[in-house]
Amino acid sequence: MDSILVRGGGELNGEIPIAGAKNACLTLMPATLLSDEPLTLTNAPRLSDIRTMTTLLESLGAEVSKLQDGQVIALSSHNIHNHVADYDIVRKMRASILVLGPMLAREGHAVVSLPGGCAIGARPVDLHLKALEAMGAELDLRDGYVHAKAPGGLKGGMVDFPLVSVGATENALMAATLAKGTTVIKNAAREPEIVDLARCLRKMGAQIEGEGTSTLTIQGVDKLHGATHPVVTDRIELGTYMLAPAITGGEVECLGGRMELVAAFAEKLDQAGIDVTETERGLKVRRRNGRVTAVNVTTEPFPGFPTDLQAQMMALLCTAQGSSVLEEKIFENRFMHAPELMRMGARIDVHGGHATVHGVERLRGAPVMATDLRASVSLILAGLAAEGETLVNRVYHLDRGYERVEEKLGAVGARIERVSGQ
Ligand code: EPZ
Repeated sequence: MDSILVRGGGELNGEIPIAGAKNACLTLMPATLLSDEPLTLTNAPRLSDIRTMTTLLESLGAEVSKLQDGQVIALSSHNIHNHVADYDIVRKMRASILVLGPMLAREGHAVVSLPGGCAIGARPVDLHLKALEAMGAELDLRDGYVHAKAPGGLKGGMVDFPLVSVGATENALMAATLAKGTTVIKNAAREPEIVDLARCLRKMGAQIEGEGTSTLTIQGVDKLHGATHPVVTDRIELGTYMLAPAITGGEVECLGGRMELVAAFAEKLDQAGIDVTETERGLKVRRRNGRVTAVNVTTEPFPGFPTDLQAQMMALLCTAQGSSVLEEKIFENRFMHAPELMRMGARIDVHGGHATVHGVERLRGAPVMATDLRASVSLILAGLAAEGETLVNRVYHLDRGYERVEEKLGAVGARIERVSGQ
């Protein structure tokens, strides 16, 4: 297993290109199942999760080819011959559940393994299933699989989510595009990845209104055609790299970044003493003074502070002047980076969904272990500012969501290298 070695100290200066969004691409790729015509995605990120989704779609009979070093993905589902999404693939990546809605909508039946939980929480899919039942799906849960049928096709229905769910909104939205009649989705997720999916589906001929708001209205159509669509910029990779100069000092321009993708996050950075300036090429970030100021953070669905940036923000606040309280309201177990940061000298008290961080002057490098995707990159950020060397183990988590992290950070002056495991 590979590790990443970071030698701390020194400011970062220069430019970091931000890739297309992993969490947009993982819902745009299954959209190919809605049509027998080709779907081409450009600005696609080169990540292991994308390779996993590719394997899953190919196992169903879709053709997926990567062009331009993986930045273009050409998909075609004119010949779906297998309707079972196997546990072996699904267990590797929970987003696999996103083949359920489109496959059921177009093929009238689907068998998808329940994804199971992960390090950050139980990750149930009950809201996905309730949404499809509201569109007339007949679901039977047995042997760890969802057996879904829609004899005669799905019908438009009323979906009212008791809590905001990104994935359930995506499954319901994709399924509704081919349902007979009108579907209204209330308390829908408003993430930019949902907006991106709606725009792509509209290019394929779907009739959708309200993306970006809490209510989506979809008029089902008989058939969707092919399309070409650029994957939206990854706001979580963007926020992650905005924190690099924030934690080390210096000035970095994140190319492709747009303020509307990270407004709540940028507001918090401003309160902590970090300047974020929109340029015509992206977002320029620099620390105003020598040390950041403690701020309190509560994670919420978009447009609130993203849960996927909580671990990275904690790394910054470990070196802030004063104490910060981070409240994680989306997932039940998303502070696993805290004990690892404490190995580096951070002072953090975790109680349930709250973590209180008492800022220290400097962290000290140490061997640490990545436990999930965003925790792993928060340890790298901490290592950039720490005294001495930090060795982050189990970086396969990292490669799921960050392409070429050592190249991107190395290019702005970080002393970082990948150490191949035995
Ligand atoms: C998406 O996960 C993202 N993944 C996550 O990013 C992100 O953290 C999350 O949205 C929240 O923004 C992808 O897009 C592939 P949810 P998702 O359904 O859709 C509960 C990363 O690091 N819930 O919005 O699974 C759930 O337990 C990953 O890139 C139910 O109770 O998240 C959670 O507490 C991590 N029943 C809350 O809702 C359901 O049926 C929000 O989950 C579904 C969800």
